[in-house]
Amino acid sequence: MAYETILVETHGKVGLIRLNRPQALNALNRQIITELNAALDAFEADTGIGCIILTGSEKAFAAGADIKEMQDFTYPQTYLDDFIASWERLSRTRKPVIAAVAGFALGGGCELAMMCDFILAADTAKFGQPEIKLGVMPGAGGTQRLTRFVGKSKAMEMCLTGRFMDAAEAERAGLVSRVIPAADLVDEALKVAAVIADMSRPVAMMTKESVNRSYETTLTEGIRFERRVFHSMFALADQKEGMSAFVEKRKPNFGG
Ligand code: CAA
Repeated sequence: MAYETILVETHGKVGLIRLNRPQALNALNRQIITELNAALDAFEADTGIGCIILTGSEKAFAAGADIKEMQDFTYPQTYLDDFIASWERLSRTRKPVIAAVAGFALGGGCELAMMCDFILAADTAKFGQPEIKLGVMPGAGGTQRLTRFVGKSKAMEMCLTGRFMDAAEAERAGLVSRVIPAADLVDEALKVAAVIADMSRPVAMMTKESVNRSYETTLTEGIRFERRVFHSMFALADQKEGMSAFVEKRKPNFGG
C-alpha cells in the first residue's frame, strides 16, 4: 500500500512508523488513522518484525485530532460512524509498540502515545489534553489512560485546564519511561526496539499481554493470569534455549 500521510521503514526486526502531515503538525484525520492501521496490520502479519516504533517529527508527534476535519461533525454522524473507535486498533496491537515522542503530543496525539506500550520522550516533548479549550473533552482515552498513568490529581488538572506537561514533568509523573536528547530519540528508540525484537517473540507478546492485564482486572485475577501464562512458557523451545544459554554462558538465540 502506498501511504501519503505516514512513512514506513524496516530496520532489521523493527518496524518504524512515522506520522507525516507536517503542514498540520501531524493532526490526526481519517486518512492518517486508516494508513496507520494498515501499517500496523502489515507489521503484525510480518513474521520478520518483533517490535514496532511509532514516532512523528521533531516538532510534533501529533497535535491531536484534526480540528478542521472535525469542526462540522454532527452528533448523529459521530455516533453512527463510532468516531474514534478505529483509533483503538493501536491499543490492540499484539506485538510491542514503543512511542517515540518529540515536540507536541496533544489531545489525540497524547492519547495515541498512551495506547503504545511505553513512551520514550525527547527533551522537547510536550504532553497535554487541551480539548476542553475547544469545547469538548478527550475522546480517545485521555480521561482514562492519563489518569492511570499519572493519577487523578494531575490528570484532572490537565484535562480541566488544558495545560501542557514538559518531558521532565512527564517522566517524574510516570507518563514516560525515559527522557532522551531530541537528536538521539529515534536512534535510541531503534536500539531499545532491537533489544525487544531479539527476545523470544511469543514471550515478549505474552509479557505485554500480562502487563496490560493489570489494568483490566483485580490483583488476584491478574496474578492468576500471570501464573498460568508463565506456566505455558515451559512449552516453548525458547524457554529451553534461554535457560540453556544462561547455564552454558552464551547468548541465547531465540527462534520464536
Ligand atoms: N488540527 C488541525 N490542524 C492543526 C492542529 C489540529 N489539531 N494542530 C495544528 N494544526 C495546524 C494549524 O492549524 C496550522 O495550520 P495553518 O498553517 O494552515 O494555519 C499548522 O498546523 C501549524 O500550527 P500552528 O500555526 O498553530 O503552530 P504553533 O507552533 O503556533 O502552535 C500548537 C502549535 C500549540 C500545537 C497549536 O497548533 C495547537 O494548539 N493545536 C491544537 C492542539 C489541540 O487542541 N489538540 C486537541 C485536538 S482535539 C482532540 O484531539 C480530540 C480527541 O481527544 C481525539
